[in-house]
Amino acid sequence: MNSEISVKPFVKCRASITPPGSKSITNRAMMLSALAGGRTLLKDVLFSRDTNIMADCLQKLGYMLKLDRNENTIEIDSAYGSIPNSEAEINVGNAGTAARFVTALVALRKKGKFKLTSDKAMHARPIKGLIDALKSQGATFEFLGEENHLPFVIRTNGLNGGDILIDAGESSQMLSGLLMASVGAESPMNVKLSSGTVSKPFVNMTIEMMKQFGFSCEVDGTNYKVDLRAKRRADSPRIYSIEPDATAASYFVALPIVVGGVSEIVNFGSCKLQGDSAFVEVLESIGLIKTQHCGNNLLVYASENTVFPETVEVDFNDISDTFLTLASISMLLPFKLKIKGIAHTRAQETDRVGAVACQLRKFCASVEETEDSISIIPYTREELVKKLPSETLVNTYDDHRIAMSFAIAGCADIRGDGKPWIKIENPECVSKTWVDFFEVLYTARKDSKKFRVIAVDGGAAVGKSSVSRECSRVLDYMHVDTGAHYRTIAYGLLEQGVDASDKNAIIQALKNLKIGTALEGNSAKITLNGNLVPDSEIRNERINLKVAEFAAVAEVRDFLKNYQRSMADFGKENHFNGMIMEGRDIGSVIFPDADVRIFLDADEETRAKRRAKEGISDSIKKRDELDKNRKTAPLKQPEGADLIDTSHLTKEQVVQKTLSLILES
Ligand code: DC
Repeated sequence: MNSEISVKPFVKCRASITPPGSKSITNRAMMLSALAGGRTLLKDVLFSRDTNIMADCLQKLGYMLKLDRNENTIEIDSAYGSIPNSEAEINVGNAGTAARFVTALVALRKKGKFKLTSDKAMHARPIKGLIDALKSQGATFEFLGEENHLPFVIRTNGLNGGDILIDAGESSQMLSGLLMASVGAESPMNVKLSSGTVSKPFVNMTIEMMKQFGFSCEVDGTNYKVDLRAKRRADSPRIYSIEPDATAASYFVALPIVVGGVSEIVNFGSCKLQGDSAFVEVLESIGLIKTQHCGNNLLVYASENTVFPETVEVDFNDISDTFLTLASISMLLPFKLKIKGIAHTRAQETDRVGAVACQLRKFCASVEETEDSISIIPYTREELVKKLPSETLVNTYDDHRIAMSFAIAGCADIRGDGKPWIKIENPECVSKTWVDFFEVLYTARKDSKKFRVIAVDGGAAVGKSSVSRECSRVLDYMHVDTGAHYRTIAYGLLEQGVDASDKNAIIQALKNLKIGTALEGNSAKITLNGNLVPDSEIRNERINLKVAEFAAVAEVRDFLKNYQRSMADFGKENHFNGMIMEGRDIGSVIFPDADVRIFLDADEETRAKRRAKEGISDSIKKRDELDKNRKTAPLKQPEGADLIDTSHLTKEQVVQKTLSLILES
């Protein structure tokens, strides 16, 4: 019986995700380790259905593998370009890489006989191009089912080398497998493509990895010249780290688009071999997301106020494993979407174009397909809510990517009631590449992490506001500018004709000021007697001169203290991940227990220049003197706070440093 999982929607993610190791790299690294000579220790490997299959295949062929599932490592002893066993029966499941790589690999064996079986779904997947190529080198095939498909018995007698022609038009894995196996040939191989190939970035990945393992593969148009040198070398044990899976990351790159908030993809900067990391750029160019690099991590958040064209057309040929990620959320996007360049995905885990079209029809106004593309017209959000039954089942065709993609769409709280509206059939199929995907998705919910308070203090014109605002936007934190609080109070007192030196008058006048909060995007702004006092009224020379004097009065500070502390609850109630509060005494008086306390500083000249650039005349020096020397809550770097001198840094650099301090704490 098939199981199902209801996806629970939520608002605003605060995901910090470490994607599993890349499946494609893990399986290539295993094959190359088997061929490269000596011993290899693979680190950060993915243990999933497809990689277990690959490891099992190699063991059946007689290679020595030590798998450590706790440490995510595999140690492999090479057989220096040959295959230890001459006979084996191997099941490649529904793993495309294992099917193609192992078929090519066994061809290296002299006098070999290997039976390759698979899941039923794999019987239909293309492998003829590789079969024909291997036949041209003397291998013979006995098909146990349909001709030129799995299952089959292959009889092998090594690869002779020289020219070999391959048609890899239906799957680049055939070319990748043949290139890797070529390093074990009798003499150098010249692999020639008879037609183009799909998913070029995966071929590039193979070639780059061959180089990393000490082989050489020269590419000239559609010719690949593979050298044999390395296999004869006596290699010392090598250590090879697997990159995080960029395709897996795509789900959490898309998540903020449908739920808001921010996703942090840990170690995304290490994704150098994988074409699918370009998914981020594609979404960015459409205007769906914005990103910020923070060390080796990538922060992704949904862009606001993008004006989209009526139709967006994108070519996913180079990043086709991620097309499902975008297609599945298209039902929630405000434009028509056409994804092209995906014909070859019809022959993957399932007919992906057909399958996704069939599922999207349950949610969209219109879904059309051609051999190579899918075009989606979504309903408006209101129509979608009206048309859908309470919950809709998504069939997953045993395809991990369909399950994960639609699970992301299902996180959107389309009805605003937090009730599930998407059910995923057979969710266990995700174990092909990401065993604990649904657990990780659960941790992306904002409730699973604590609301954080960040205090940013510093003098006038050190860049507090612009940096705090930008970091708040990136992290989906609430931004609170307490300078504006003092300015608003100064305005309210001046309007009542009160002088800063008349303490009694101040105490009386404060009683007439009712303060509240209005949320403008990510900014919590103070209101005075129910109204937001416009910037033009609080950011002018009249206020600049008086504000520091009023701010030095203990009663004024007391008046604001509890209000400012209550902002943390306000932020939580409004579903923010945290709050950045900026001012002069936030880390010392208002939130001395803040999760992170930062003090910004800059030399006088830089600050004067910044103000002049903003076209604001401001008596910064005088204000700072007053702020520093007052008795109550003077401006100073709180003990233990992190200092950033912004004098010679760009705004972006200060943002980066601040984000790093926040995220690393
Ligand atoms: O950040 P700003 O320049 O807008 O602040 C205006 C004034 O408010 C500043 O000169 C001192 C006062 N202030 C304060 O005393 N304590 C805070 N936490 C924030 C501002």
